[in-house]
Parts: sequence; structure tokens; C-alpha cells
Amino acid sequence: MAEARDKSKAVETASPRDQAVRKLQEKGVLNMDGQPMPRRKFLINLALAWATFAAAAGGAITALSAFLIPRVDFTKVETFKIGPPSNFPPKTVNEDYKAKGKFWVINDGQKIIAISVVCTHLGCTPNWMETERKFKCPCHGSGFTMVGKNFEGPAPTWLRRYEVSLADDGQIVVNKGRLFYEEKGEFVDPRSYIAV
Ligand code: FES
Repeated sequence: MAEARDKSKAVETASPRDQAVRKLQEKGVLNMDGQPMPRRKFLINLALAWATFAAAAGGAITALSAFLIPRVDFTKVETFKIGPPSNFPPKTVNEDYKAKGKFWVINDGQKIIAISVVCTHLGCTPNWMETERKFKCPCHGSGFTMVGKNFEGPAPTWLRRYEVSLADDGQIVVNKGRLFYEEKGEFVDPRSYIAV
């Protein structure tokens, strides 16, 4: 403590020249004897200091970009070939793709549709209740009809639908890269269903 006080007192009482020398020594321009550093050594020290700074800045930028840019490959859109329309009899809910594709396939007697399993309240997965003929969300009790219409509980909208089409081989293709929203009037879009 006393030593530090003496040191700062010594700095305060040093002549302006001595203070300037001390600063240049701290910057590496002068050596400890107060002599100019050899030019090559000075340049090497400068280059090393710059390289250290650049490496630290580069690392920080890399870490920041990894944090800011989501690691999602938007070129990979999931599609499912789920068989011909005859696999889905009228008035049935098919749950074969609930786990692996996150959708149900429904034939309401007029259309085949692929409904997203994500509840439009807060994103839980509802269950199909065969005896009650409705979807029921276990989280806050929202209920949806067989075609996904919200009719009880807090869910504000219908369940979403995925794009469906018929491939050349007659199989239905569900495209998870395209969602249809009832509140935007998109359920009339022919890409959101297959007429039966
Ligand atoms: S998440 Fe489905 S009712 Fe809340």
C-alpha cells in the first residue's frame, strides 16, 4: 500500500521528459534503458499486438454470428408420400403420421386434408378422441372438430393445414413447407385439400 503510494508520488514528481520516456517505454517504443527499440523488434512487437487483437476480434465476430444466424437449412422441405386416397376412408382420422410427420390425415367425406398437430393456443399436441369425435388439447382444454375447427377452450383459430397433392403414381404427397390458415381464407385454395 505504502509502496504504491510512493510509486505514484514518484510519477507525480517526475519531470515531463521522464514521464514521456516512461510512456514510450510502456508503449514499447523505448527499451528499459530509455534507448529506441531496434526498428525490426518494434515492428515485430507491433505485428504481434495487432495479430492478437485481430484473433480476438475474429473470434468474437464468429461467436456472435453463430448466435445471431439460426442453424436452419431452409432448402430442406419435408414431404411425405402417404399412399393413395383409398387408404383414407370417408369420415376417418388417420393418426399414422402424428408422431413422425406431425400431422393427421382426415377424410371428411368430401375432402382429404392434412392437419397440423400444433394447437393454435400455445402449441401443445391435441389428442383425437374417437368416441367424442373431436380433438382435445390436454394443456388448456381447447377442442377442435374433426376438420380442425376450434369450438371450445382458448384456442383462437382452426388448426392449420398442410399442402396436399397427387403424385404421378397416384399417391398423396403432404408438403410441410406450405401451411394454410383458415383466418386468411386459405382453406378454399385447392392446394389445401384433395377432393374425393
Ligand atoms: S395449448 Fe392447446 S389449449 Fe392451450
